[in-house]
Amino acid sequence: MKVITANTAGFCFGVRRAVDLVLEQCSAAGGDVYTYGPIIHNEQVVAGLEKKGVRVIEDLADLDTIKEGTIIIRSHGVSRAEQEIMDRSSLNVVDATCPYVKKIHRIVEKAGDEGRTVIIAGDPGHPEVRGIVGWTTGRAIVVNSAAEAASVQLEKGEQIMLVAQTTFQAAKFEDIVEIYRKRGYYDFVINTVCSATDERQAEARDLARQVDVMIVVGGRHSSNTRKLYEICQEHCESTYLIETLDDLDLKPFQSFLCVGITAGASTPNSIIEEVTDYVRTKL
Ligand code: F3S
Repeated sequence: MKVITANTAGFCFGVRRAVDLVLEQCSAAGGDVYTYGPIIHNEQVVAGLEKKGVRVIEDLADLDTIKEGTIIIRSHGVSRAEQEIMDRSSLNVVDATCPYVKKIHRIVEKAGDEGRTVIIAGDPGHPEVRGIVGWTTGRAIVVNSAAEAASVQLEKGEQIMLVAQTTFQAAKFEDIVEIYRKRGYYDFVINTVCSATDERQAEARDLARQVDVMIVVGGRHSSNTRKLYEICQEHCESTYLIETLDDLDLKPFQSFLCVGITAGASTPNSIIEEVTDYVRTKL
């Protein structure tokens, strides 16, 4: 039995950095550690951090009652208003916003100062997009599809700046760029799609094509894990989605010769290694 684990399985650079920063704060002596929202969408990681004393704050109004400690901003980033509330609090603020997201904040802030309307390709309900909107200083519009982009009403002479949520589909973003190009805009776009998601999906697709069975490891509520599962299933009929090793039943695997393993962006290495070792030793 051959077992191949995807190189891109698991945490992207920004998520790894955020989790590392939380762990660093846990080991540094200096009061309680809080994260603004769960640091990643993985119950096991959040529960593990909770055991180390990390608490999740959902509402910044709670900061009024906390007098000391450290609050960590997660990789999605926050709006300028939220950042200011944290800065004004008596807590030490550690910014774990992914540098790629921070770059978008700077782009939209500058565009607003130049009088441009900012158009963000993304999901309006996603915290990353809400954070980006919160750094704009003028008109800001979120579009989630080419059809929505086409329906945006722009005044004659209105200048725009188009950016994307980091996990926006690259092909969908290109369609949106094309719409504004056809409307006569030029010098209006900065492609802020992060390649980590595309690379993970491309590798999963290639792996699924070569193996007899695919295991996708990730949280049930993680949308990027579900997407990985769908991609793998398209190319490998025997694809299984598991959250942890407890969900893995190797009985149907006995007749297979080659197993592929990949994992969503919020799956920690420890779970991926545990699954890989188990499959290697048991089959
Ligand atoms: Fe950052 Fe890209 Fe991950 S933007 S959080 S490295 S998906």
